[in-house]
Amino acid sequence: MIKQYLLSPGPTAVPERVLLRMAQPMIHHRTPQFSAIFAETKQMLEEVFQTKNDALMLASSGSGAMEASVVNLCSPGDTIIYVNGGKFGERWGKIAAKHGVRAVEIKVEWGSAVSVDAVAAALADHPEAKGVFVQASETSTTTEHPIREIAALTAKMDGCVTVVDAITALGVIDMPMDDWGLDVVISGSQKAFMLPPGLAMIACSEKYWKLAESASCSTFYFDLATERKSQMKGKDTTAWTPAASLIIGLNEVLKMMREEGMAALYARHALLAKATRAGLTALGMKLVSSAPATSATGAFVPEGVDGAAFVKYLRDTMGVTFAGGQDHLKGKIVRVAHLGYYDLFDIITAISAIEIALDRFGAEVTMGAGVAAAQRVLADRFDKV
Ligand SMILES: Cc1ncc(COP(=O)(O)O)c(C=O)c1O
Repeated sequence: MIKQYLLSPGPTAVPERVLLRMAQPMIHHRTPQFSAIFAETKQMLEEVFQTKNDALMLASSGSGAMEASVVNLCSPGDTIIYVNGGKFGERWGKIAAKHGVRAVEIKVEWGSAVSVDAVAAALADHPEAKGVFVQASETSTTTEHPIREIAALTAKMDGCVTVVDAITALGVIDMPMDDWGLDVVISGSQKAFMLPPGLAMIACSEKYWKLAESASCSTFYFDLATERKSQMKGKDTTAWTPAASLIIGLNEVLKMMREEGMAALYARHALLAKATRAGLTALGMKLVSSAPATSATGAFVPEGVDGAAFVKYLRDTMGVTFAGGQDHLKGKIVRVAHLGYYDLFDIITAISAIEIALDRFGAEVTMGAGVAAAQRVLADRFDKV
């Protein structure tokens, strides 16, 4: 037997009580029973978004909500600005191109955070831009961008909003939507929300809804105004058939988050990230990011080690699934996730597995060095007795 550990930045492991909740017999979604669950879930979800706006649930993966955020704001020929510092930033440009929206790219070196000055300069060059599109956490490079500062820039402009892909940030870091003036926040089920893939979440500010009134890009399924009418308080249903099992699972997840408390949840994620960075650097591995994310940590494998084979070996021979690199980082890095249903000893498993794999791949490694460094950070979680 090889016990399997899913330590990738999505999908993430689903807690046992959530699995059990989702295994209940199916109920019909056009019923008071489902609407009661829907209403409760939506209210708890809005607490995690930290917003008074509606947090809408869409039956799609996160990319569906990314596309929805573009098409509901823009008309063909409009301009947007987007931060491209990795695989997911790049996606904004691809979505815009499909809909005839002109996308002005701010290219950022992979592993770096965008500079706020670069965003300010792009806005000065393109005052006609309808929005700045950015990742809170760029998962491909495990980097956090300064979303709060970017939102402060667009807050001064009447016709421009900040749209944040928080697919690996919401439920990981404290990012109060309303307080920070984030106009759109997007998330997905298979990350910090500890669910299987298939549910996207999106909340939009009044400023966004106002601008959306004149948008004419075409979409049928992702018409957010239609969704808002259905999902608003008192209606408590979705426009189309919802991902009912995932919404029921989300209800349980949000109860778990409430029980833990959001401050404790953010502190847990921050500690796990710190321990992972300490463990990997103690093994001599260089971090990919100069603004490392709280959701996952990428590190370069040592010279001479084939990163793709390394990640495959960890998964297929050792039973530990991490993510590798994408595009030009393919074969060069390993990404260790620490978001969602993760606790201290998952990090020990992760670092220990990497130590053993490094040794098997012939790299120079002092067994236990990474684990010890991680343990020293993690021990802070417990009071001395
Ligand atoms: C930051 C970020 N944006 C977008 C996506 C795409 O989401 P999905 O795969 O759910 O469509 C991901 C998925 O890994 C992500 O991490």
